[in-house]
Amino acid sequence: MNRVICIDGPAASGKSTVSKLIAEMSGIKYVDSGALYRIATWQALEAGIDTNDAEAVAKFITGLKVDFVVKGNRVAYEVNGEEPGDKIRTPEINKHVSPVSAVPEVRTIVTKWLRDMRSVGDIVVEGRDIGSVVYPDSPYRFYLDADAETRTARRYKEDIQKGFIQNADQVKASLLNRDKIDSSRKTAPLKIPEGAIVIDTTPLTAEQVAAKIIELSK
Ligand code: DC
Repeated sequence: MNRVICIDGPAASGKSTVSKLIAEMSGIKYVDSGALYRIATWQALEAGIDTNDAEAVAKFITGLKVDFVVKGNRVAYEVNGEEPGDKIRTPEINKHVSPVSAVPEVRTIVTKWLRDMRSVGDIVVEGRDIGSVVYPDSPYRFYLDADAETRTARRYKEDIQKGFIQNADQVKASLLNRDKIDSSRKTAPLKIPEGAIVIDTTPLTAEQVAAKIIELSK
């Protein structure tokens, strides 16, 4: 059975950076579950769906086609033959992704996609419910956290690099709002999976966190 390393945690807790490093350092494939919820949100918005209309979102997701392609040490996602890139990382998508990902039908479909990805080999999967819902039987489950100031500073730096103009207060408000919706939704809320190892990444570098997880996943 292929190994699955599960990395959960709130927005900007270091999940992506750490998961990509784990893939690079240990030669396994990186799977970004949040990108699937972002793709569903992006496509729904493109189709003119009201993201607060759960019924319309549920209907839309059943017809959405996403292709999975292994590229180097990651599983890439293509819609109509193209990777969406930073189109799914805008403040607009950030605003709409939590209501979309709270729709149970969306979660059922994305969970199935994520479980199917185990067939490509050993994987490291980052998200909000990977160790609690998608792969609860994996022996390698981790929950990353960091204080709100550190998370804001990290996300602010990333946003500036992407050319999104927001001030630090807006970034912090958006992060905390997403945490609130993600933690309080009925289906698969963000929580520490039972038995998962919790790592506070505030004082650590991404390399230190990745090395620790690799060591604990042998
Ligand atoms: O990790 P991210 O910021 O790209 O995730 C975007 C959103 O997707 C996040 O606000 C909540 C949702 N998400 C989720 O509900 N479950 C996951 N496994 C991953 C992401």
